Amino acid sequence: MKLLHVDSSALGANSVSRELTAAIVNAWKQREPGLEVTYRDLAANPLPHWLPVADAASMPAGDPLAELFAADVIVIGAPMYNFGIPSQLKAWIDRIVVAGKTFRYGANGPEGLAGGRKVIIASARGGFYGADNGSDAADFQERYLRHIFNFIGITDLEFVRAEGIAMGSDQRAKAMNDAHVEIETRLPVAA
Ligand SMILES: Cc1cc2nc3c(=O)[nH]c(=O)nc-3n(C[C@H](O)[C@H](O)[C@H](O)COP(=O)(O)O)c2cc1C
Repeated sequence: MKLLHVDSSALGANSVSRELTAAIVNAWKQREPGLEVTYRDLAANPLPHWLPVADAASMPAGDPLAELFAADVIVIGAPMYNFGIPSQLKAWIDRIVVAGKTFRYGANGPEGLAGGRKVIIASARGGFYGADNGSDAADFQERYLRHIFNFIGITDLEFVRAEGIAMGSDQRAKAMNDAHVEIETRLPVAA
């Protein structure tokens, strides 16, 4: 079984989403002996913005599209930046959402071609965006990620969420604890 681990936070060792993706990948490793992990760090080795003519010299090692297709499960660290996702993560999405490869337009409209794999997203946010607190309309991060993966045919999507990270150290600690418990107890690991 192959797992693709993608991080995008710029905060390095202080990153909430990096801590959670590491815990998710660890849980998979423990329960799936022989798991092969490919790691892509979009902050340490950013992908250039998509351009019609690729600049090979500015591309970090590895082919993002080949890595996606090789993976059975993809674990993504996705902070909320200005209500959306980090531009580093968007640059990766611009490399994996490719007409004729991961989607096509057929007689019935767009059709995803990358299904059959699981995506687990560790979502970190400074505030709260749940449906219960009235701010969910400002969530262009999780909603966007759900849409983009559905668009390429991936409907097996899980979110592990740490919210209210900027709301004081008690709330941060609670959010992290809850997320780790969720990873250990709720998250489906391996088949
Ligand atoms: C550039 C930037 C923009 C941010 N924008 C938002 C935002 O719009 N809403 C929010 O709730 N938190 C926002 N935050 C807070 C982050 O979502 C929060 O710190 C989260 O923990 C970041 O994930 P990370 O710890 O993995 O880097 C922002 C943080 C940064 C650095």
